[in-house]
Amino acid sequence: MVASPKCERSGTLIPTKAFVEGLEQNGNYETEYVYIDRLNVTPCRGCLSCWGRPDGSCFMKDDDVPMIRQKLIDSDIVIWSFPLFLFSIPGQMKVLMDRIVGMVHPYMGQKLDDPDYLNKPMHGLQFQKEGQKIILLSSCAWTDIDVVYEPIRKQFDIILGEGGYDLIVASQMRALHHRGGERRLNMLRDKFRKGGAELATTGALSKEIVDYMQKPLFSDAAYRELVVQFVTHMFDRDDNF
Ligand SMILES: Cc1cc2nc3c(=O)[nH]c(=O)nc-3n(C[C@H](O)[C@H](O)[C@H](O)COP(=O)(O)O)c2cc1C
Repeated sequence: MVASPKCERSGTLIPTKAFVEGLEQNGNYETEYVYIDRLNVTPCRGCLSCWGRPDGSCFMKDDDVPMIRQKLIDSDIVIWSFPLFLFSIPGQMKVLMDRIVGMVHPYMGQKLDDPDYLNKPMHGLQFQKEGQKIILLSSCAWTDIDVVYEPIRKQFDIILGEGGYDLIVASQMRALHHRGGERRLNMLRDKFRKGGAELATTGALSKEIVDYMQKPLFSDAAYRELVVQFVTHMFDRDDNF
């Protein structure tokens, strides 16, 4: 699921495609890219009637959501590829997620101070294919990913449960994409290909491989210089989109 409004020109797609190649080269996968920005998705009307339907489906059936929902249910691996927007997910992705809220267990009044709360309903998907893996593969401009992805972690820990997903971040992406040069982009591709390979061969992503993929390619000082130069000349360029 590609959530960048840039679609094929998305920087996040660079590590995403490499990760998918690693999967394809080491496992028997049929893959598909879905560009969310091109879908017809009517925003949620807020009725929550989906939670009352046995299959959790929305009452609106005349846009692309029923088709996408079925793909999300049937896939062995779902990768949400998205740029960080204001320390959150892009609006296009949020609009789609709201429409498939019936895929998470309904809220039944549980309290979050229950010590076992992450294993209780509301945390985790219903109608999910057995053994399905959900990967959040995101890119951002900042280097301090622990800080800038804290809201995303919190949000998805509550929605999917801790361990209900894997988050992989390509930091420094904006300037890397436009100014990093092919050699560095190939280093990034190589790292993410290895990540996909590990998932295909072991069925999981180790902390070591996630750290390896996430290791910044620029030193802090070199990156700062590049960002300042890039931002200052952003308006001169025609390749920003
Ligand atoms: C509206 C907007 C908000 C952004 N907010 C953040 C942010 O909060 N933190 C960050 O590190 N980068 C932020 N960025 C930068 C993007 O996350 C970054 O350039 C990303 O690599 C773009 O990926 P894409 O080419 O796949 O769209 C923002 C970009 C835009 C357009």
